[in-house]
Amino acid sequence: MLGIVYYFEDSSKNVLSGTFDAAELWRETGKVFGVDTVIMIDCTTSDFGQRYKFMDGDMTFHRCASLDESLNIYPESEVILVETPLKCPLADTSEPVNLKDLAHPEGDTIYVFGPDSSGITNANRGQWIYFDLDYSIKGSTWSFVAAGIVLYDRMVKKE
Ligand SMILES: C[S@@+](CC[C@H](N)C(=O)[O-])C[C@H]1O[C@@H](n2cnc3c(N)ncnc32)[C@H](O)[C@@H]1O
Repeated sequence: MLGIVYYFEDSSKNVLSGTFDAAELWRETGKVFGVDTVIMIDCTTSDFGQRYKFMDGDMTFHRCASLDESLNIYPESEVILVETPLKCPLADTSEPVNLKDLAHPEGDTIYVFGPDSSGITNANRGQWIYFDLDYSIKGSTWSFVAAGIVLYDRMVKKE
């Protein structure tokens, strides 16, 4: 199983069109890298996230209310927490691993990408990783961009 967790926020809404572009972006980005399980943490304050229908029968979709709930679905899986070195995503403290040095897990793995409005906080398990950016410009990028970087790294290291 190769899974991704993403946060669906009020800022993810396409208010003008009422379409679910951000959720589709996650589905399609995952699919191209072989992701078979997509987990949405629905943070929207209306029923917008609830109305999203996942239409891909080849993939498994879960809608959760919290990170804990999402990680409890597959309790045996390895968890990779993708978060900048600026913000510790774990409830306890540990050092992050640079993506360059990461050996991606062989077994069932879930990659967690944080909310664009803040970041991952208080995860109870997982390996914290980050990737270098030019911090003189900006220390973080949008989470779906982070997903492309990390999943591409996984793909080429496994070739
Ligand atoms: C806009 S960032 C959130 C703000 C970020 N926590 C910060 O400290 O600036 C959205 C998400 O993209 C991912 N991300 C962005 N840049 C990253 C980096 N350099 N290393 C690891 N993850 C990154 C993380 O999952 C993060 O939660």
